[in-house]
Amino acid sequence: MNSTLDMFNSQSALSPAGVGAGATHDLTLIMTIAAAVIFVTVMGLIWAAWRNTATPRAWWIWTGGVVVPVVTLTALFIGSTLTLQALTQGDKDALVIEVTGNQFWWDVVYDPDTLALRDANEVFVPVGRPVTFRLASADVIHSFWVPSVAGKMDMIPGRVNELTVTATKAGRFRGQCAEFCGLSHPLMAFELVALPAEEFDIWLRDLEGEARDAATPALLDGRRVFLEAGCVACHEIRGVATGGRLGPDLTRVGARASLGAGMWRMNTGNLAGWIADVGDMKPGAQMPSYNHLSGPDLRNVAAWLESLQ
Ligand code: CUA
Repeated sequence: MNSTLDMFNSQSALSPAGVGAGATHDLTLIMTIAAAVIFVTVMGLIWAAWRNTATPRAWWIWTGGVVVPVVTLTALFIGSTLTLQALTQGDKDALVIEVTGNQFWWDVVYDPDTLALRDANEVFVPVGRPVTFRLASADVIHSFWVPSVAGKMDMIPGRVNELTVTATKAGRFRGQCAEFCGLSHPLMAFELVALPAEEFDIWLRDLEGEARDAATPALLDGRRVFLEAGCVACHEIRGVATGGRLGPDLTRVGARASLGAGMWRMNTGNLAGWIADVGDMKPGAQMPSYNHLSGPDLRNVAAWLESLQ
């Protein structure tokens, strides 16, 4: 596997980079420390009860069996309820990003009610501003999870779940589908890119434009292959062909760090391999293989797609 990210630093709930992940991390720490203290206390009480036969049995039952558990469990319950409340709180001023799970990729629409800018397999967010993810599914149950940034939320066919997230650090974080959804479930990843707020605004404005023009004869030929091979039935490229929504939007495909939803490095070679034999590169993917294309056609269409940045 040719992952573009360091798995241990970019997908760890133990190095939080978001409000939700931070709250979950703190609660985990509190629970772990509390469990250790409770364990030591209970062991101490058992030892004391063993040694001290003078204290009446009823005292041990009321103190160790009722008072101590009620006080500690109530405190921990209040702590976890407050955390849960913080995690599930929405924000009506938040930027809305719609993410739809598909076998085995992510359809991403920024500001679906006004701008409706489509992209795929990468999610950009501004640091310090709340973002409400509207999470849906086009086929089976998936689950949206970026462990470093927030808790996870299921994507269920026929309904929309909301998850409000605030990134606290800039960086690239790995997200992973967290619900078994078929053969390539473990290969259904994405990157969440948290940019400083002003950089994010520029990035979003950039996304509004159409795809980059083909600048050389080879790239123009690649564009011709794309149109003639029927790729447009499933893939949209703004300024080239619209309407295809079955597969990922490819308007900025070359700008993505990875190919195949977090699987492979984005480059012409991997793109050509993907188009020629997608089943080999991602088992169970819905896209057909285009192994009937000639070598030059394959090379040109891959180079053209990579040029779309
Ligand atoms: Cu999608 Cu697992």
